Amino acid sequence: MNKLTTQEIVDLSREYTFFSWSVQGQVNPIPVGKAEGIFFWDTDGKRYYDFSSQLMNTNIGHQHPKVVKAIQEQAAQICFVHPGNTTEVRARLGKKLAEVAPGNLKKTFFALGGAEANENAIKLARFYTGRHKILARYRSYHGATHGSIALTGDYRRLAVEPAMPGTVHFLDPFCYRCPFGQKKETCHRECISHLEEVIHYEGPDKIAAIIMEGVVGSNGLIVPPDDYWPRVREICDKYGILLISDEVMSGWGRTGKWFAVDNWGVVPDMITTAKGITSGYVPLGAVIVSEPIAKFFDDKYLYAGLTYNGHALALAAALATIEVYEEDRLIENAAKVGQYLGRRLEEIKARHPSVGDVRYIGLFSALELVMNREPKEPFDPPVMAEVGKVLKENGLFTFIMAKKDMGTIVFVVPPLCITESQLDEGLALVEKGLEVADKQVK
Ligand SMILES: Cc1ncc(COP(=O)(O)O)c(C=O)c1O
Repeated sequence: MNKLTTQEIVDLSREYTFFSWSVQGQVNPIPVGKAEGIFFWDTDGKRYYDFSSQLMNTNIGHQHPKVVKAIQEQAAQICFVHPGNTTEVRARLGKKLAEVAPGNLKKTFFALGGAEANENAIKLARFYTGRHKILARYRSYHGATHGSIALTGDYRRLAVEPAMPGTVHFLDPFCYRCPFGQKKETCHRECISHLEEVIHYEGPDKIAAIIMEGVVGSNGLIVPPDDYWPRVREICDKYGILLISDEVMSGWGRTGKWFAVDNWGVVPDMITTAKGITSGYVPLGAVIVSEPIAKFFDDKYLYAGLTYNGHALALAAALATIEVYEEDRLIENAAKVGQYLGRRLEEIKARHPSVGDVRYIGLFSALELVMNREPKEPFDPPVMAEVGKVLKENGLFTFIMAKKDMGTIVFVVPPLCITESQLDEGLALVEKGLEVADKQVK
């Protein structure tokens, strides 16, 4: 077969395939030819620092030989079995997930990605509690399928409403832009009393579950105050509401712990996850549920199923990926280099007037850019487009949010195998982008 040229790859992809979340005529994809560790190269050989781990999922870095080999070996042995049958890899991975998940989280339902994991978590919560409402937060993303987009609080839900009925949203603990008008010194955790008030109005005995991202990702990297998760756990216990942590983005070492909730010692009733579970090498999602929920279904029919529930290739990738987290000590590295990253981001904020806030936990971080430090106005989207262009030209790929009503934010979410010196090299490129924004500060 003749190799396609770089231009042909881009042109044919644009003509015959849809790209997500974009005006199709405006997409400008990088044709990627190879990748290794924290880098990828386009088909012309230009190298990029991957500062968003692609879509915050290639946590172990690109093309780790152990995971590639595990996929190859599984493919040679058996790719697929009926989801009602099982495989050695399913047995091993199920047990492993129970080991790394917190507390009494024990039994896993496999799906293909984050949205499907959340869809199934909602179903399980409704069956288990016999209640139907689900509470979620406004600054959240839980996936693009019908139910998951209903849970999603952000603008992406609005385009497809009316979506699944029975979801109710509440406000976030977003300290930089506190929705309750508080500052650190005046805060009484109005976000917590607000949640309890919403529960009262909605009827505690009607609410099956509260779902929250462990740490909010694409909606602005919002790290909650330390007592937030424990206090939500208490509220859930008080009213018999299940607590679901969506760890699709915040799980798998991203925050310096296996799961974000581990930072606060909280055991949710379910964890939903995807992305880092296989580092993106093969699609996989999972809902890990507590022992009581697992037991509940021992004598009840589980109305949930997918042809690809327990796909052997994906499970082999997951098992090998988890072993890489352990053997390469990537979670420890995320915690250690994450501390360094935090210090570096604070320095950068001090140097660049366009940086209003820096938020970080482990290797999960973002710089919120503002036209002015008071009243913290976001930049116009063209300014952020220019920042993005400069980063790309300089060989740095990352996720940038550029929405006037959501904030203008540059994410720094590199693979967990990054070293401090690689981080410095990439941050130097980020600073070149910030210089563009600095000139627009008013
Ligand atoms: C927190 C969170 N939940 C769910 C999803 C949806 O996952 P997927 O795109 O695999 O369906 C995402 C995707 O970015 C996410 O960040």
